[in-house]
Amino acid sequence: MTNPSDIVWHEQTVDRTAREANLGQRGAVIWFTGLSGCGKSTVANELDHQLNQFGRATVLLDGDNIRHGLCAPPGVLREEYSEEFANRFGLGFGAVDREENIRRIGSVAALMASAGLITLTAFVSPYRKDRDRVRKIIETSGAPGDFLEVFVDTPLAVCEARDPKGLYKKARAGEIKNFTGISDPYEAPPNPEVHLKGGDGATPTEQAAGVLAALVERGII
Ligand code: PPS
Repeated sequence: MTNPSDIVWHEQTVDRTAREANLGQRGAVIWFTGLSGCGKSTVANELDHQLNQFGRATVLLDGDNIRHGLCAPPGVLREEYSEEFANRFGLGFGAVDREENIRRIGSVAALMASAGLITLTAFVSPYRKDRDRVRKIIETSGAPGDFLEVFVDTPLAVCEARDPKGLYKKARAGEIKNFTGISDPYEAPPNPEVHLKGGDGATPTEQAAGVLAALVERGII
C-alpha cells in the first residue's frame, strides 16, 4: 500500500491569483442540485450562456455528460476496458458510487476554479454530506464564498410529470433501481445560497437571472 507521506505536494510558480488576474475575474463554483428533471441542467446552461455574453470565462460540468466519460457507468466502460476495470472504476447510482461521482466532480471543479473559471455544475448530488464535502474542498483551496449551492426545488410530482427521458416511468416499473425520489433519497439543502422554486411558471431565463443576481451580490462577477 502507498504510504501517504510518499506523496508530496509540489508548489507551482503560477498561482491562482495570477491566473485570475489574467482572466480579469474570480474563480468560483456554482453547484446546482435537485431531482432528475427539476431543470438544473437547463438553468445552468442558461446561466452559462448569460455569463458568456458578459465575456466571462466559464465551464459547465453536467451530470448526464460527465457520466459519458469521467464518471461513466460500468456498462459504458466495458465497451473499451476489461470487465475488472469497468467494475472497479465505473460508477452507478448506489450511495457509494454517487459519493465517488461527487468526489471526482468536486476535485475537477476545484481545479477549474483555481484556474480562474466560473465553474457551473449540475448533478443530482442527493446526499448532503457529499455536497458539504465539496464545499469544504472549494473553500479550503480558495476562499469562503467561492462555493454557491443552488437548490432547484421542483416538486417530485412536477419532475415526474415532465419525465423528459422516460426514467421515472422506468423507475416506477422497477426497471431502474436506486432512482432518486422514487427508490432512493434526496436530501434537500437546508441553507442553499440560492433557492429556486421550480414548476411555478418561472422560466429558465428568469431563474438564471436570479442566480446571476446572487453572483453580483457576492462579488463573484
Ligand atoms: S448523482 O446522483 O449526482 O450521482 O447523479 P448524476 O451524476 O447527476 O446523474 C444523474 C443523471 O443520470 C440519469 N440517471 C439517474 N438519476 C438518478 N437516479 C438514478 N438511478 C439514475 N439513473 C440514471 C438521469 O438522467 C440524471 O440526469 P438529470 O439531468 O438529473 O435528469
